Amino acid sequence: MKNSITFYQDINYYKFNNHKKNFKLVKMKVVLFNGSPRKAGNTNECLNMVMEELQAAGIECDYICIGMEKLHGCISCYKCVATKDKTCAQKDDKINEYIEKMIEADGIIFGSPTYVANMTTNMKALLERAVMVTLTSGNLLKHKVGAAVVAVRRAGAVHVFSSINYFFLISQMVVVGSSYWNLGIGLAPGEVNKDREGVRTFKNLGKNFAFVLQKMNA
Ligand SMILES: Cc1cc2nc3c(=O)[nH]c(=O)nc-3n(C[C@H](O)[C@H](O)[C@H](O)COP(=O)(O)O)c2cc1C
Repeated sequence: MKNSITFYQDINYYKFNNHKKNFKLVKMKVVLFNGSPRKAGNTNECLNMVMEELQAAGIECDYICIGMEKLHGCISCYKCVATKDKTCAQKDDKINEYIEKMIEADGIIFGSPTYVANMTTNMKALLERAVMVTLTSGNLLKHKVGAAVVAVRRAGAVHVFSSINYFFLISQMVVVGSSYWNLGIGLAPGEVNKDREGVRTFKNLGKNFAFVLQKMNA
């Protein structure tokens, strides 16, 4: 008899433990970060569209708003290279807590509005420090699943999309796409819901993300 048997119920799966002679439920988890200072803004709407699809597939979601926090960028101290202890030496904000959540999750989604054709400062701070810590402590995000979610009024969103994807790619993660690049158009909070193609893009992204997670954990 094989050491492990897997069977599925939606995206959740059960693995047979040959020693204990029982099935263990394995639940998949995705952590989503919203880098907008507007908690109920367009990035939030877009992330919720993705999250609804993930939850419909039975995936647990942990949604975190970082847009109004005081977060620092990387200060180039290289202490994480020396310690390799999965943490950043700057301990006076919540970034270590967020890095831990990324390490524990099966999938990671970063959502940001477009600010001067780039991601927000807080999202950048998170990405800078998380990439240094996770790469130097042994490629801790390798083979996890990732996607970017971007809100924009008019232009610059594909640059944000690319910048976030560089984080996933250097982390050796699997990047999930959709029927268009993952962006939604709107200025005032909630306006993105009128962008029909954007809505379709985020719903498809959620479905694709669940599909890839399931295949990778088979
Ligand atoms: C400081 C700032 C810079 C912005 N820069 C751009 C930009 O470069 N291109 C653009 O199309 N929209 C820009 N916008 C508009 C936002 O990207 C847009 O309103 C987005 O929907 C906001 O998302 P949110 O509601 O999640 O914060 C900017 C908004 C602010 C406040």
